[in-house]
Amino acid sequence: MSRRSLLITGGAGFIGSHVVRLFVNKYPDYTIVNLDKLTYAGNLENLKDVDSKPNYHFEKGDILDVEFLASVFKKYSIDGVIHLAAESHVDRSLHNPAEFATTNIIGTLHLLNVAQTIWNNDFQGKLFYHISTDEVYGSAENGSFFTEETHIDPMSPYSASKAGSDHFVKAFGNSYKLPVRISRCSNNYGPYHFPEKLIPLMINNIINNKPLPVYGKGENIRDWLFVVDHARAIDEIFHKGKDGEVYNIGGNNEWKNIDLVKFLCYLMDKKLGREEGTSANLITYVKDRPGHDLRYAIDASKLIAETGWRPSVTFEEGLEKTVDWYLANRQWLNNVTSGEYMKYYTGMYQNR
Ligand code: NAD
Ligand code: DAU
Repeated sequence: MSRRSLLITGGAGFIGSHVVRLFVNKYPDYTIVNLDKLTYAGNLENLKDVDSKPNYHFEKGDILDVEFLASVFKKYSIDGVIHLAAESHVDRSLHNPAEFATTNIIGTLHLLNVAQTIWNNDFQGKLFYHISTDEVYGSAENGSFFTEETHIDPMSPYSASKAGSDHFVKAFGNSYKLPVRISRCSNNYGPYHFPEKLIPLMINNIINNKPLPVYGKGENIRDWLFVVDHARAIDEIFHKGKDGEVYNIGGNNEWKNIDLVKFLCYLMDKKLGREEGTSANLITYVKDRPGHDLRYAIDASKLIAETGWRPSVTFEEGLEKTVDWYLANRQWLNNVTSGEYMKYYTGMYQNR
């Protein structure tokens, strides 16, 4: 196996931490550099099982800081990038769209520029792999699925910023022949998911007997994939995908929000030894998210045909693993909800 030196941005976040874990464990000959700003969503606790491995390195910094990016490329002779760093929460994007445009579009542009400049047109063995989202396609009509050819039609400031970054990645591939790949995945769930997103928020509120806020009538549909399977797909695309291509990633697993929340309530009642129906009593319908996309549904047949990837768990198995993880890791939940870990970073990284 060839040695590689990979830069993974956003590796302290939810999906990034699973990608880092998989690559560090599976490729001991690779140098894995996790570059992360450690925003509220980044948490090094997510990586404590791999952070002492010799092939793992952490660099705290911002993808908007061009000099810092260039120094990291040079320090580790980076030859591949897996770019996950982003602002990722739709609700936050509605409050601060400019922050999303800056991080997601300009940050990606800086990273592309630095890769192109440092690699200096010697693109042999190099790869810039951008992690995007199915949300760039907008909302899917009933019965239709997003393919890689589906028209880009973002509907929220978050998805608009991700679509903008996708366009820049494609433009660098086209204009400068930078070897680029893009993947667009559906909704992820699993361990280390920050509890502002639907599934971990509901788990946390059920544990604490707090109301379960369902937006609108709970009719919106999402296509859920276990995060470990997303990381496995990223590994396949990184190693077997083709330059210049887009790959959709999804598990063909559509759920109406309200059905999912009820199923989670049922599972949690069993796990917590509560009488069936106890947690469902906490369901509270609240004001809908403005411009709320009704349905996401991914056609992942291109990925399956080209790489042989398949999800490793059913939704029922993945959700049970997730619930078990949150119940066994209540300290992690308490730390991220109390902001305790942010105080730790402030003390730990005073210079950056
Ligand atoms: P996350 O919010 O959990 O993590 C994002 C990470 O990026 C954090 O560690 C954060 O500290 C870091 N970051 C943010 N701004 C940064 C900056 N300026 N410089 C350096 N680091 C910065 O997000 P996630 O859910 O893990 O998503 C990761 C990527 O996958 C994103 O690009 C997202 O658009 C995409 N995605 C997410 C999902 C999902 O369901 N969560 C699905 C498909 C695609
Ligand atoms: O599809 C991929 C996208 O999935 C990723 O690109 C995003 O980064 C990720 O955050 C996710 O976006 P969603 O907006 O679909 O995820 P969220 O968990 O915020 O919401 C899932 C659904 O649940 C959505 O229809 C809104 C609804 N919801 C969400 C929350 C937080 C509720 O009903 N109540 C809630 O409290």
